[in-house]
Amino acid sequence: MKVFITGASSGIGEALAHEYAQRYRGEGVAIGLAARRADALTALKDTLQRQYAIDCKIYPLDVRHSNALSLAAADFIAQFGVPDVVIANAGVSSGTLTENMEDTAAFQIVFDINVLGMVHTFQPFIQAMREAGSTGRRAHLVGIASVAGIRGLPGAGAYSASKAAAIAYLESLRVEMLHHGIAVTTIAPGYIRTPMTAINPYRMPFLMEANIAAHKFVNAIEAKRRFVVIPWQMGWVARLMRLIPPVLWDCLAKNAPHKSRVHLD
Ligand SMILES: NC(=O)c1ccc[n+]([C@@H]2O[C@H](COP(=O)([O-])OP(=O)(O)OC[C@H]3O[C@@H](n4cnc5c(N)ncnc54)[C@H](OP(=O)(O)O)[C@@H]3O)[C@@H](O)[C@H]2O)c1
Repeated sequence: MKVFITGASSGIGEALAHEYAQRYRGEGVAIGLAARRADALTALKDTLQRQYAIDCKIYPLDVRHSNALSLAAADFIAQFGVPDVVIANAGVSSGTLTENMEDTAAFQIVFDINVLGMVHTFQPFIQAMREAGSTGRRAHLVGIASVAGIRGLPGAGAYSASKAAAIAYLESLRVEMLHHGIAVTTIAPGYIRTPMTAINPYRMPFLMEANIAAHKFVNAIEAKRRFVVIPWQMGWVARLMRLIPPVLWDCLAKNAPHKSRVHLD
């Protein structure tokens, strides 16, 4: 099993690396770990190699830089071969308000990382995956979106809109890839306990531990799910959110607590 994961230095990405290493150890596992913090990636790589004796390589990079991802993809393919699964998981979150001029920069950063970062992650792997597909191997692209992308959340315009964009982008990609024999899965998590949610000042319904979430994410990937909300309880919330007319949504959402503002760079 060969897997390339962005946002691997903490939270869901780190838990996914553990899940793949544990699930496939003994069968030959190679994992590419990408994120900006080289020290955290090195620590994770050391742990994975010590615990599971797998092949691992770190790629300290920023997903906003398409060239860095092209180089990382070429290196991963040269060392380990075409990945079975590429997971675009890197993401950032911050409260934003359009009326604040200083938040314009945050909108830009959130979109660049959460949306374009996904495009930059998949693009350099697709040609090699197509070629591998012609020999019968079915590769898989996975994007981590969010339930926050189902409807616009107040105080989180940048994050909600970036995840809505990710959901629509991944759907376009999924249909495009049908012709190339490449599967695409969109995962929309609810609340997962990670550094990203640790600062949320409100109660998080159905909060799930990252290792349990990663186990369920990989099950969904292996089942070739096209779109999945995890945990399942949030799947029902998401279905309801989609059905609510705008006038009712306004009443329900207007007093919702806002996301914490964080410094992004
Ligand atoms: N936790 C939740 O409840 C939840 C719910 C819905 C969706 N999600 C999504 O799940 C994904 C993972 O989030 P998480 O909860 O695990 O948060 P997290 O612990 O903060 O992890 C975010 C990861 O993204 C990486 N990252 C951020 N900006 C990057 C950049 N410019 N280039 C490369 N890597 C970058 C971070 O690493 P570096 O800082 O080292 O770069 C880190 O590894 C995100 O896309 C998030 O939106 C999370």
